[in-house]
This record gives sequence, structure tokens and C-alpha cells, in this order.
Amino acid sequence: MSNRTFTMIKPDAVANGHIGGILAQINEAGFRIVAMKMLRLSTEKAGEFYAVHKERPFYGELVEFMSSGHIVAAILEKDNAVEEFRKLIGATNPANAEEGTIRKKYAESIGRNAVHGSDSDENAAIEGNFFFSGLEKF
Ligand code: PPS
Repeated sequence: MSNRTFTMIKPDAVANGHIGGILAQINEAGFRIVAMKMLRLSTEKAGEFYAVHKERPFYGELVEFMSSGHIVAAILEKDNAVEEFRKLIGATNPANAEEGTIRKKYAESIGRNAVHGSDSDENAAIEGNFFFSGLEKF
């Protein structure tokens, strides 16, 4: 069990002014922000990040959405970070997300769902390395 996970605040939540609210909820839940940056992904980079989903019917829509505006990428630290963060954000589809979760509060739909959270320790490391160099994640 690793103590780090990777997250993105997605273009819908950034455009709707929810960066502050989401980061406050992340901090209140006991996560330390290890590294953070705001950027806009090219369609090529978004396609690369989500390559694991390229056979799924929503891949094109997902890549288009994730490159449609700025995102905030961050590495977070807490005991059992991957599982704890997935609990904090709630189900992928906000219609199924529990009350009080980040997606219940801020997500618009299964595609425009406000935040990403890594689904395994292995992917957390891969995704963190996609955005941050060794110097940036102490
Ligand atoms: S998860 O969280 O990986 O278990 O969820 P999964 O259902 O496998 O979805 C993977 C990512 O694809 C996004 N997604 C969609 N985008 C657009 N349209 C539809 N219908 C759709 N279904 C799923 C979902 O938000 C996940 O993005 P990330 O960034 O991994 O949260």
C-alpha cells in the first residue's frame, strides 16, 4: 500500500470556479499536496494519458473534453491514499456518488465529472510521473 495518489481537477470544475472548493475539501480530508500545476493538455497528450481506454466508446469524447480547457494536476499524500481519495471523490457517475463527495458536489455528468483519481498504486506512480519530474515531487 502506497501513500501517494494522483489527481486532476478537470476542465469543467476549473471553468466553473471550483479549484478552491475542491482543494479545500482535499486538505480537510487530510491529504498533503506534494506537487501541483495548472496546464492545458494537447489532444495528443490527453490521448496518451487515457490510452488505456482507447478501445472504449467514449475515448474520443474523453480526450476532447480533457483537452478543452485548463486542468490542475497534483500528487497527494495520505495513508492508503488511492483508496481514501477514491472514497472522497465518489463514484465515476455523479448520479451514483454518495452525498458529500467531491463528484456529488461538483460533477455535471459521467464524462464531465470534476476530478480524476488514480485507481491503483501502480497507476498513481505512472500518472504522477506523466506530469511531474523527479525534482518536482519531493
Ligand atoms: S474508473 O474510474 O476508471 O473506474 O471509471 P471508468 O468507468 O473506467 O472510466 C474511465 C474514465 O473515463 C471517463 N468516462 C467517460 N467519459 C465520457 N463519457 C462517458 N460515458 C464516460 N464513462 C467514463 C471517466 O470519467 C473516467 O475518467 P477518469 O479521469 O479516469 O476519472
